[in-house]
Amino acid sequence: MSSPRSQWKSRFGFILAASGSAIGLGNIVFFPANAYKFGGGAFYLPYLVALVLIGIPVMIAEFGLGGITKKSFPLAMRQAGGSFGEFFGWFAILNAGFISFYYVTILGWVCGMGIEAFTKPVEEVFSANSTTHVDWVGGTGADLPNPVGTFFAVVSSWTPLVAVICVWFLNFILVSKGTRTIEAAVKIFVPTMWIAMIYLAITGLTLEGGFDGVQTLFTPDLEILSNLEVWQGAMAQMFFTLTLGFGVMTAYASYLPDRSDHSHNAVTTSLLNCGFEWIAGVAIFSMLFAFSISPKASTLSMMFFITPAGIAEMGALAQGFAMGFWVLLLVAGLTSSISLVEALVSAMRDKFGTARWKSLLGFGLVGCVGSAFFAMPHVINSGLEDDGTLGLTLVDLIDHWAFQYGLLIVGLIECLVIGWGIGMERLLGFLNERSRVRLGPLFAFLIKFLIPAVILCVFILNIAWLELDMDLFGVKGVEVDGKPGIYGESFGPNYTAGGEIMKSLHLIALIAWVFGTFGIAALLTGIRSKAQRAEVAQ
Ligand code: PHE
Repeated sequence: MSSPRSQWKSRFGFILAASGSAIGLGNIVFFPANAYKFGGGAFYLPYLVALVLIGIPVMIAEFGLGGITKKSFPLAMRQAGGSFGEFFGWFAILNAGFISFYYVTILGWVCGMGIEAFTKPVEEVFSANSTTHVDWVGGTGADLPNPVGTFFAVVSSWTPLVAVICVWFLNFILVSKGTRTIEAAVKIFVPTMWIAMIYLAITGLTLEGGFDGVQTLFTPDLEILSNLEVWQGAMAQMFFTLTLGFGVMTAYASYLPDRSDHSHNAVTTSLLNCGFEWIAGVAIFSMLFAFSISPKASTLSMMFFITPAGIAEMGALAQGFAMGFWVLLLVAGLTSSISLVEALVSAMRDKFGTARWKSLLGFGLVGCVGSAFFAMPHVINSGLEDDGTLGLTLVDLIDHWAFQYGLLIVGLIECLVIGWGIGMERLLGFLNERSRVRLGPLFAFLIKFLIPAVILCVFILNIAWLELDMDLFGVKGVEVDGKPGIYGESFGPNYTAGGEIMKSLHLIALIAWVFGTFGIAALLTGIRSKAQRAEVAQ
């Protein structure tokens, strides 16, 4: 039979790996972008509430599930909730697989931008004061202001496709020996990320006017708290940034020795992640304010247009800063994507006894193909009013389902399955016996009632609002009273320039997601593996 389950060499190695999974693009760009989108300080309070009431408890539950069952997510969920649990366990892994496809593509674009930063003067490629002529696949091209021009030159070329294959290959190598290679990698990568981020934040703070940005980030705005969109944004950000609902944390915790203190580990991992996120917020906000850049947009444009434009203003520091920024993004993204690859490999091993190299090869190949879809360079909308290239549009569409719906579905079901299936008495007994952090009835109430209820409400609101705002590039952001603002007005499908193409793409993306997650999860749950049959026979 297969070799014994692997184990982390030390608690430190585990914490580095878990926090490395949590710290990723979500921290460096999505958090500042979301914070900006929701009006700076307005985001901060809902975010803290979401951290304490949802993030940390769900992290404890995911770690606890791995600790009790010593299984990766799908089979751990099976132990707690039968076939129903297993089905959603696979759903989590597959949904996260979709996220990892485009996550790796974004890393491919990061490589492309990084190559620009390493090979050309920063003022030439990132300064918003000049333009670049872009020739693109499927169109006549255009003169675009940098760094939009540089970014479109990258995404509408074939370079990202090559980069995507390289990033998958790197994933493959880093996960090749499981916890052994992961632990070795995170020991180098995670401290490097921290040093680079602290350096970026200190540099940002010492810029003239930089501190104003930090004040905007941390001054709470109580008025905006009545806006449900802010709360929903904070919760979605919390799941994504802590890698919850991916099936990763359970797999990672299942590799810990029996006496491990899961509650303490969960608090440490969550705080490390959020600490990193705040430092990233400081770095980005201080730079934006120092150079009076007002990002009306969100997420990807923050990463690829706004931050590079800010960096280009840094004078003597610009070149080094730019190179550091792209390397930091790549490293942070890698420590996240490898965690997902490991979650899948261990799930296949637990259920089907599949050899590591086979799962890796299979997932690597599927991953390359999946990411290639998002790396498609064809410009389908030369006005760039929507997202321009086919790949970008697909990222937008799939992200909508996998991020806004997929993660929340898993969050809801896992709390119910763990809370009611394993039972809080057993979970609390298990956790408290091993921990200095003592959990009580409040924790049980959160997992069994409050978190599922909140997720359900958000979910219903999502559907009720039919909030199909394909707005990763967020050109539609509006300013409220001249203040950086909440962006509203984006409810309802937005098929502006792409017209019919957008409509059919939306349908295709939805079908692909539904089939690729619910469909394949049903298939994998239905198959009874040899290992399972042997268990029943005993
Ligand atoms: N937590 C990660 C982040 O903040 C998200 C992620 C994890 C994405 C694992 C892919 C795989 O970026």
